[in-house]
Amino acid sequence: MAFLEVKNLKKSFGETKVLHGIDFSMERGEAVALIGASGGGKTTFLRCLNFLEMADEGTITIDGGFSFDAEREYKSSQIREMCLQMGLVFQSFNLFPQYTALQNVYIPLHLRSKERIKAKYPFGKQRRQKIAEALEKDKARALELLSDVGLSAKANNYPCQLSGGQQQRVAIARALAENPAVLCFDEPTSALDPELTDEVLRVIRELKDKGCTLLIVTHEMDFAEHACDRVVFFADGRIEEQGTPEEVFHNPKSPKTAAFLRRSHED
Ligand SMILES: Nc1ncnc2c1ncn2[C@@H]1O[C@H](COP(=O)(O)OP(=O)(O)OP(=O)(O)O)[C@@H](O)[C@H]1O
Ligand SMILES: [Mg+2]
Repeated sequence: MAFLEVKNLKKSFGETKVLHGIDFSMERGEAVALIGASGGGKTTFLRCLNFLEMADEGTITIDGGFSFDAEREYKSSQIREMCLQMGLVFQSFNLFPQYTALQNVYIPLHLRSKERIKAKYPFGKQRRQKIAEALEKDKARALELLSDVGLSAKANNYPCQLSGGQQQRVAIARALAENPAVLCFDEPTSALDPELTDEVLRVIRELKDKGCTLLIVTHEMDFAEHACDRVVFFADGRIEEQGTPEEVFHNPKSPKTAAFLRRSHED
């Protein structure tokens, strides 16, 4: 079984059928680019994989163990646990403006540490001590993650004091904090100027070199071709074609893929 295995994933919004039964898998450490025309369902697919939307049908299995089945009912606490298996970086960064870069990374991490400690130590001094210890640990981890994305010096800056590229790198550090099995990106650079795009793509490339499993929706065809192991072309809620960058970009089998690539070349 693959590291991430998705079977027959379907999703509709009212009468609008968006995903028509997606079968998809990824190996550990693989970097996959997801490309396709606007409205094809790429974001919906990532949101279903991250349990921000619940698929109507299908299954998602991560690392042969954890498994989601649309047929089953889940409690909100189970959905929260499922969300932690996957990470998602949004186009629009989605940082908390009232928190510094460091706080943006450690606060979500620390909230979950606190939940775990409270469940184990219901009252008293020991609980307070454990929470204080966890706070130091979570801050140290956040600083390490900020350093990994080249932002140690900006830890105490607020989002409004950071460039778009720096904000996106904070968002990447935050998404990495829980060690997700797969880190997904939804057009991580499309809100950025070209010079800021490069610094974000460099960080994503470094994550790949470190062995992270990455699924990246992108319009950066150069990046998809040169930094990813596999390219998946999505059209009208289906996987139309997939293969190595060489196969998809230089020898597309589907006329829809060829037409999409021609159009994106002209833009
Ligand atoms: N919450 C929602 N409610 C209703 N319809 C939705 C919702 N989210 C997405 N859709 C519809 O689902 C379809 C696919 O949208 P989606 O955002 O997944 O496409 P996309 O491939 O990410 O497009 P883009 O490249 O423009 O980001 C669209 O027709 C969209 O209008
Ligand atoms: Mg989208």
